[in-house]
Amino acid sequence: MNFSKCRVCGERAIIDLPRHNANFCADHLLQLCRRQVEKAIKDHEMLSPDDRILVAVSGGKDSLAIWDILLDLGYSADGLYIGLGIGEYSDVSGEYTRAFADERGLTLHTIDLRDEYDYDVPTAAKVTRRVPCSACGMSKRHLFDKAALDGGYDVVVTGHNLDDEAAVLFGNTLRWDVEYLARQHPVLPARNGFPKKVKPLMRLTEREMAAWCIVRGIDYQVDECPMAIGNKHLAYKEALNSIERESPGSKSAFYLEFVDKMSPILAGLNQAAAGELNRCAECGAPTTGDTCAFCRLHERVGGHEPVPVEMVLNKKARKAYLAAQAAGE
Ligand code: AMP
Ligand code: FES
Ligand code: ZN
Ligand code: ZN
Repeated sequence: MNFSKCRVCGERAIIDLPRHNANFCADHLLQLCRRQVEKAIKDHEMLSPDDRILVAVSGGKDSLAIWDILLDLGYSADGLYIGLGIGEYSDVSGEYTRAFADERGLTLHTIDLRDEYDYDVPTAAKVTRRVPCSACGMSKRHLFDKAALDGGYDVVVTGHNLDDEAAVLFGNTLRWDVEYLARQHPVLPARNGFPKKVKPLMRLTEREMAAWCIVRGIDYQVDECPMAIGNKHLAYKEALNSIERESPGSKSAFYLEFVDKMSPILAGLNQAAAGELNRCAECGAPTTGDTCAFCRLHERVGGHEPVPVEMVLNKKARKAYLAAQAAGE
């Protein structure tokens, strides 16, 4: 049989990466991933060797991979998992995350929305009548910040990859949302009571992260969040993938050139927006008002009767969700 060969060593390749116009064996794929993470960290001064790092881990490939890569590069990093209460999806995600941490003897902090705040994401979505990702994203951001500050961590790492960032950039650009464009940076420095946040996978794709996990024997939650099915973010990813197939390298150029060329131009706008903030009357978090958005959400939805996932999905998502449930039984 005719196998393609690794560009670096000539051994049998396991993956082709059209944007690098090359194939790679398992070892050299790992080397490429490590080098891309090192480059992101160095170019954007993301981490220092003695930083106390908190990795936000969802149980998916990206966040487990970046936790693994950072440890592999010699950083010490603890994990944070947030139980969002999205039915079986969250149960399984939590199991993969705990298994990863247990097998390696790592410290994993866990916060369960239902246990600690008496709500979950489907219930919050139903009560607020907003798309689920809105309450979910806001809750996660608040809890990442709080856990980092309470635990004395220097920096929060998330597993956002090149596909995620390019899709967000695509959406922001379609709307010329200048405020969001100014804030879309792989590093948010610590300021105003918020911890530093970094995205070291900014140069690597979903496919590369899936390959990292397979080669390293990391089991992860393969399913997408059921509440995200049919959302715009996934549609933007598909659109970019279709462009990428025609013209390999355009996705990374779109995002990485934005960071290099446009972010410095937009930075001034960002500074202008960053004024002094108040402290939330309930929890002390930084906020523009009296009470932070998380405490307002908590006040509104905490204690509400739990709403099951399928009650808050749109028609298309519910059909896909129920079919997947039936297939799993
Ligand atoms: P997402 O918004 O689901 O694409 O996730 C982006 C990043 O946020 C992931 O790579 C993780 O670093 C983090 N994250 C998402 N969900 C969770 C969770 N339930 N617990 C902790 N971190 C999470
Ligand atoms: Fe937040 Fe799906 S993970 S709504
Ligand atoms: Zn090789
Ligand atoms: Zn608050």
